[in-house]
Amino acid sequence: MGYIEVTGGRVLSGCIRPAAAKNSVLPLLAAALLCGKPCTILAVPHLRDVETSLALLQAVGADAAREGENISLRPVRRICGTVPASLAGAMRGSVFYLAPLLVRAGYAELALPGGCRLGPRPIDIHLAGLTAMGAQAEVSRDQVRLNRRGALHGTEFALRLPSVGATLTLMMAGCCAAGTTVLHGAACEPEIADTAAFLNACGADITGAGTATLHIRGTGGELLGGCCHAVLPDRIAASTYAAAAAIAGGEVTVEHCPPELLAAFLDFLSSAGCTVTRKRENFTVCRHPGHPLRGGQQLVASGYPGLATDSAPLAAAVLLYADGPSEIYDGLFQNRFACAQGFAELGGGAKAEGRLLRLAGGASLHGGTVSAPDLRGGAALVLAGLGAKGTVRVSDTDHIRRGYADLAGDLARLGADCRSVTECPR
Ligand code: EPZ
Repeated sequence: MGYIEVTGGRVLSGCIRPAAAKNSVLPLLAAALLCGKPCTILAVPHLRDVETSLALLQAVGADAAREGENISLRPVRRICGTVPASLAGAMRGSVFYLAPLLVRAGYAELALPGGCRLGPRPIDIHLAGLTAMGAQAEVSRDQVRLNRRGALHGTEFALRLPSVGATLTLMMAGCCAAGTTVLHGAACEPEIADTAAFLNACGADITGAGTATLHIRGTGGELLGGCCHAVLPDRIAASTYAAAAAIAGGEVTVEHCPPELLAAFLDFLSSAGCTVTRKRENFTVCRHPGHPLRGGQQLVASGYPGLATDSAPLAAAVLLYADGPSEIYDGLFQNRFACAQGFAELGGGAKAEGRLLRLAGGASLHGGTVSAPDLRGGAALVLAGLGAKGTVRVSDTDHIRRGYADLAGDLARLGADCRSVTECPR
């Protein structure tokens, strides 16, 4: 147990490069089970969810290991389809193993996946799509088991809503199925296109990834080849650094990250009064410390290319300090704004009403100890501390470490008075 300590009042400056996107790395590691030749994923950050994925891969018999900053997988003959409950329950990303295990082992058995407590997170779309491809699903209260007789077959399937995870599941399943799978109403997140780029480099035949309609020509049961893949930058980490510049003031350049990956978030920062300069491969966010942030914002978090749900708490941290009230509505998760309680405990005007977060603006936050309710909510509380008059301690940092290798270090390198402390606060 530990906490992140941040004392407000420092202006930020400097350049930072986001790590590889967590939400690409997790499906990529699962997708590598479909490969019959060696694969290497380059520059994988040291995140808790990545370590859980490695443990999960090893538990099902895969030959997966860290080699410095990279993770390599070598093909093995047999994969076991049962995921230990402690690993399945430790992260939402365990759901990405449903399709690869079903393909490799002929069955997949796992406890219903864990992860951030953002509200109900059913997996019915994953199961409906896999069933349409010939799998049999048995679901009990806390466990799911999938079986197949023979290879899965291609199908035409319309997702009832554009789930990122279900799009990835069905794309992976389609790669080794017999015939062509067509997915309608798919999610368009860049991490899906990144996973498709990896699979295509391994010999898959996927077109349309990153749009609402995907065509996947399957191998008919054969495994794919291998490849070496450089992962997309983490657009939510990039949004975190951009929000930090907005709250603390100063000038931060985010390098090796095309601004179109987070265009909606950068548009929001511009409308809140920051100067945003966009180049092809980087962008700069600048706010003069004497220049107020503008309130009156009505934001709606949605699927890509809209404002990312994962960046909604980060936007909220910015708007605490704006010169008037704002609202953020999250269309994806019922409990996205659990961080509102921590904001309020620090003196910020924030109230969550289901999917809606009301922010009073004009905040003058004081120091105190608050608890990270989830990954992005925890990061948002740290960001809020950058503008506080006093020292903010954010506990339960295990949530934050699921998605940031060293958030406190990143902010400190930009000039913030911020550090990670490994013992419990008194
Ligand atoms: C992924 O979750 C990300 N997680 C989330 O990031 C992110 O918030 C989310 O996509 C949306 O962008 C990972 O990649 C590991 P969904 P996922 O399936 O795939 C409902 C972070 O902080 N739904 O698109 O679980 C669901 O309940 C994490 O990095 C069903 O009803 O998201 C939710 O309301 C948090 N049935 C909505 O769809 C299903 O079968 C979107 O979920 C599947 C989803």
